[in-house]
Amino acid sequence: MQAVVVYESMYGNTRTIAEALGDGLRSVFDTTVVPVGDASKEVLAAADLVAVGGPTHGHSLSRASTRKAAADAARVKALRLDASSDGLGLREWFDAADRHPQAIAVAFDTRLRLHSSVTGRAGRGIARRLRRCGFSDVRDAGSFFVDRNNELLPGEAERAAAWARDFVRDLPRTEEKETP
Ligand SMILES: Cc1cc2nc3c(=O)[nH]c(=O)nc-3n(C[C@H](O)[C@H](O)[C@H](O)COP(=O)(O)O)c2cc1C
Repeated sequence: MQAVVVYESMYGNTRTIAEALGDGLRSVFDTTVVPVGDASKEVLAAADLVAVGGPTHGHSLSRASTRKAAADAARVKALRLDASSDGLGLREWFDAADRHPQAIAVAFDTRLRLHSSVTGRAGRGIARRLRRCGFSDVRDAGSFFVDRNNELLPGEAERAAAWARDFVRDLPRTEEKETP
């Protein structure tokens, strides 16, 4: 079975979480982790499971303006930009996405660790868009947290890998489904 983890990332934190989720999925799925700019329709069409995550910007998914603000801030604060950071955002990617009704989907995001009523959550908008694309079984892996310097909090990558391991452990196995 194939899984694709699609991420958007300005500073690399969401990519780290995407890779950790991918590691956790690999016990069951042949897993590819791709930046949103490389997540072509062909890559998705072959997937039994699609996980999609991005950074929370302005309480939700990024926009071209918030990605520019993030790139400007990187210059001022000497932050390293992810190799994929000058590409497409998830919002635009979803606008052009085909319907994809056959697979399970997982939404996740990164954000500051305050109550989500204060920070917003990109994952909520990602889950809604996945449902609109036709995924009937959309799971929420939740938020993974960065500090105000845009560094992932300790243990977050491990928490993401553990979430994915628990998720695959609880999935109905194909052979169980085929048992009369
Ligand atoms: C322009 C901009 C807007 C942001 N808005 C929010 C926000 O509304 N809520 C929040 O929790 N974090 C916000 N953040 C922090 C981001 O969530 C954080 O930079 C991101 O999770 C880091 O992920 P990345 O390294 O993959 O880009 C914002 C960051 C930027 C650059």
